[in-house]
Amino acid sequence: MTSGGDSPGMNAAIRAVVRTAIFSGLDVFGIYRGYEGMIDNQIEQLYSSSVSNIVQRGGTVLKTARSKRFMEYNGRLQAYNNLREHNIDALVAIGGNGTFTGASIFDREFDFPIIGLPGTIDNDLYGTDATIGYDTAVNTVVEAADKIRDTANSHERLFFIEVMGRDAGFIALRSGIACGAEFILVPETTTYIDNFTRLLKHDWRKSKTSGIVIVAEGDDSGGAYEIAKQVKERLPEMDARVTILGHIQRGGSPSGFDRVLASTLGYIAVKGLLGGHRGEMAGIVNKEVVFTPFEKAIKHHKDINKEMLEMSRILAL
Ligand code: F6P
Repeated sequence: MTSGGDSPGMNAAIRAVVRTAIFSGLDVFGIYRGYEGMIDNQIEQLYSSSVSNIVQRGGTVLKTARSKRFMEYNGRLQAYNNLREHNIDALVAIGGNGTFTGASIFDREFDFPIIGLPGTIDNDLYGTDATIGYDTAVNTVVEAADKIRDTANSHERLFFIEVMGRDAGFIALRSGIACGAEFILVPETTTYIDNFTRLLKHDWRKSKTSGIVIVAEGDDSGGAYEIAKQVKERLPEMDARVTILGHIQRGGSPSGFDRVLASTLGYIAVKGLLGGHRGEMAGIVNKEVVFTPFEKAIKHHKDINKEMLEMSRILAL
């Protein structure tokens, strides 16, 4: 099952789960539309051929959804009855925070073994260095920012580019470093508008005639439009523009990194279930497979590397 926001590489993970399970002598079922499909019994047996030619495709062939009904006991009970009806006795749930919160409650209520795979572009899960889709999303941002840089240069403009990440700044930080952003604004640090405009002014006086500011959507400045408005009020001479990258960050063919990560974790998920793991997310930390209890994966935020933030600023001076 894939659930929550889709991310590039989910298909590679589905393929790995299906084929590893079949190789291990198991029957495999796909649940469509996440927990919604579990409640509505949208469950079908999958075969090796069901997952042919998908390793390179973005999105998820199982579709996905965010389910309000699964937050209620009656929804979960209905879902449990459907799983029993199909003789399903373990689940691989590919998703993020919401998916694992639901999985954790479901396991406690119905004693149901579940392994989670980190499928989200946000990279906001503890217990894995990277989530499936994060690398591709960063590459998408970098490609877009490079294009914006061309026009920013030609017109001598300042661009505020807003990127996804919910309340985490991982996409912003990594893509900002890669595209040489002048500033990166993330929720993990406070943005002081007066300080920010002072630095901008200083940069422009010294050498800059154009620039890129990567703004994480969860930044406390209120997002790219808000910060651009405040900068224009203070520095009316600056020709500023805003680009919200939005859902293009969630689509596209997964990078090689994401395909390998997803394939490895899909394989590990089945092996883990067969080896008695449950209630945990499979991840890779320092090249090692790690199983992290759902509660920890959700609640213990990975820290953003503040030194990388400082580095990005030094390198852009
Ligand atoms: O969690 C992935 C994500 O793309 C976030 O970065 C973003 O805040 C959110 O999902 C958007 O969700 P939706 O597609 O439901 O609007």
